[in-house]
Amino acid sequence: MSMKRLGRYGVLLVTFLLIGACSAEPISQGHTPSALNPHGVGAARIAELWWVMFGFGIAIFLLVAGLLFAALLRGRRGTNTTMPDSTAGDTGRNWPIFGGIALPLVVIGIVFGYSIYTLAGIENPQSIAPVKIEIVGRRWWWEVKYPDQGITTANEIHIPVGVPVQVQLQTADVIHSFWVPELHGKMDLIPTRINNLTLQANETGVYRGQCAEFCGLQHAHMGFMVVVQSKDDFNKWLDVQQQPAAEPADPAAVQGQQVFMNAGCVFCHTVKGIDDKDIDRSSVDLGPDLTHLASRLTIAGASLTKNRGNLAGWIVDPQHVKPGSLMPEMYLNSQDLQNLLAYLETLH
Ligand code: CUA
Repeated sequence: MSMKRLGRYGVLLVTFLLIGACSAEPISQGHTPSALNPHGVGAARIAELWWVMFGFGIAIFLLVAGLLFAALLRGRRGTNTTMPDSTAGDTGRNWPIFGGIALPLVVIGIVFGYSIYTLAGIENPQSIAPVKIEIVGRRWWWEVKYPDQGITTANEIHIPVGVPVQVQLQTADVIHSFWVPELHGKMDLIPTRINNLTLQANETGVYRGQCAEFCGLQHAHMGFMVVVQSKDDFNKWLDVQQQPAAEPADPAAVQGQQVFMNAGCVFCHTVKGIDDKDIDRSSVDLGPDLTHLASRLTIAGASLTKNRGNLAGWIVDPQHVKPGSLMPEMYLNSQDLQNLLAYLETLH
């Protein structure tokens, strides 16, 4: 290999390594969510159905493979005789009737029946949900509202453990699909419609959710988090979320609040408690409510962990993280950026 070519491969390798180092770490909370690792009532029933189908699939595969093997052995034995056994010809006629019609009807009938039974169980939960959440799918993030408590948040749903939660799903633009593999099956968000789903988690923890219907450029970065808490922790969270944002005390944060008002953030993002009476948001594409941004685990549709560095990168160059997203680049000098970050970090 010539030195020139070697050099070229070297440059390529270094480039790949650099690109690899730049890529944002996926936020999976230590594992990839699997529908076969259920932590919710709905997901458990779906996983059960999956195993039943898998069991039938394996049984039929073994049956077909066994018959094929038997036929091969029989064929080989047959070569030793000079003539085929003419009287045995009729028994072969039953095979297509049994294997081609009767058996598939029975198997498909059982699987179909079991699917309907599972679906009915998931769609009609036994008890009335005491907690209600409204979710609006937007390109490419999730608006989350608790109508009874007057809370609006984004990309993060908190629910109490062991309690059914009614989730109302709507979309502001195109079709999305709400999916928390470890808690429940998918449910589409369809324009002009409201779809309902009942989430019930068996264990506290953080479960990742994902948009499961292709909805444009940033479909893959339309994630969210479901935080399942004890009843006490959930009530505490509700109390905090109901409060408006506290007035900043730190001088940098006070300056940062001015940057938030003057740089244009306030035109798309609400912070409850801020003086935004004169802001008309009727003609803009709404951005996430930031009242309690600092209490969240992630930003940008769960594509980045929430920390100061990621927040800064997202504000300065959102089109690098999520090309095509509606968040515009903010041209801030470094002092304004630091002040703005200081302010955003006060939004607990
Ligand atoms: Cu929203 Cu895919």
